[in-house]
Amino acid sequence: MDKARILILGGTAEARALAARFDAGGEHRVTLSLAGRTLDPARQPVPVRTGGFGGVAGLEAYLRQEQIDLLIDATHPFARRISENADAAAKAAGVPLLRLERRGWEETETDRWIRVGSIAEAVTALGERPRRVFLAIGRQEAGAFDAAPQHHYLVRSVDPVVPPLAAPHVDYLLARGPFAVEAEVDLLKRRRIEMIVSKNSGGEATAAKIVAARILDLPVVMIDRGASGGENRAETVGEAMRLAGHLLAAPRKRGV
Ligand SMILES: NC(=O)c1ccc[n+]([C@@H]2O[C@H](COP(=O)([O-])OP(=O)(O)OC[C@H]3O[C@@H](n4cnc5c(N)ncnc54)[C@H](OP(=O)(O)O)[C@@H]3O)[C@@H](O)[C@H]2O)c1
Repeated sequence: MDKARILILGGTAEARALAARFDAGGEHRVTLSLAGRTLDPARQPVPVRTGGFGGVAGLEAYLRQEQIDLLIDATHPFARRISENADAAAKAAGVPLLRLERRGWEETETDRWIRVGSIAEAVTALGERPRRVFLAIGRQEAGAFDAAPQHHYLVRSVDPVVPPLAAPHVDYLLARGPFAVEAEVDLLKRRRIEMIVSKNSGGEATAAKIVAARILDLPVVMIDRGASGGENRAETVGEAMRLAGHLLAAPRKRGV
């Protein structure tokens, strides 16, 4: 019998871990899809395709051509467009969709979070007075902070920020997680950081900065995730494996 074909939309540690679990089982033919943003992506355990599909229509065509039996959206919680496209394309092609989205971090009593709903709100939340700010939101949206050029920014990202910010006081730090709490505390102290901006991405690899802020009693401007729906949702790789098994076992009619 043909192996079931699975397409995983990735770009996260969870997508890689899920691909490895399927690969170890040997019962499925798995392809991992990456957007191609990272210059030197991490090694992946299964065959990879790279680059956008060309919107909903492109992804739908891919699902049909490759006769995909299950689409798994394991993209980053803040990668919204690809998740919307996955939802629409899966419906159009009649392919079941599973969303793997890790839980966000939760605020503790000793945290000082300023919760905002968008990058633009995060810029405003820094206030008028010039501050030393650690921007730990990745490189794609860092440019939004040009709107508040009075602050001094330390921008950390995996790849260089191109073009660089226009704001006059910006330092760049290239680094890839996971990060350790002790090193984060040291970094925040050395750079005399007064405020941190973070997306509520969740996960262990980048949680250390949140713990470090708690230790140093620093405020964190925390960008919340928007609401996301969908029926087949998992928060962990294990849950996703179980749900994938159910979805592949269910009889279905391919879309026309
Ligand atoms: N946003 C973040 O904070 C963040 C953080 C860490 C990792 N990532 C990862 O980085 C990638 C890009 O994130 P984003 O926020 O730029 O995405 P996005 O805004 O949701 O997507 C923009 C476009 O990029 C393409 N794309 C995104 N993910 C793809 C994938 N896994 N495979 C093939 N094409 C993909 C799609 O192009 P077409 O319309 O042409 O298909 C999509 O319309 C994602 O894989 C995500 O998991 C994002």
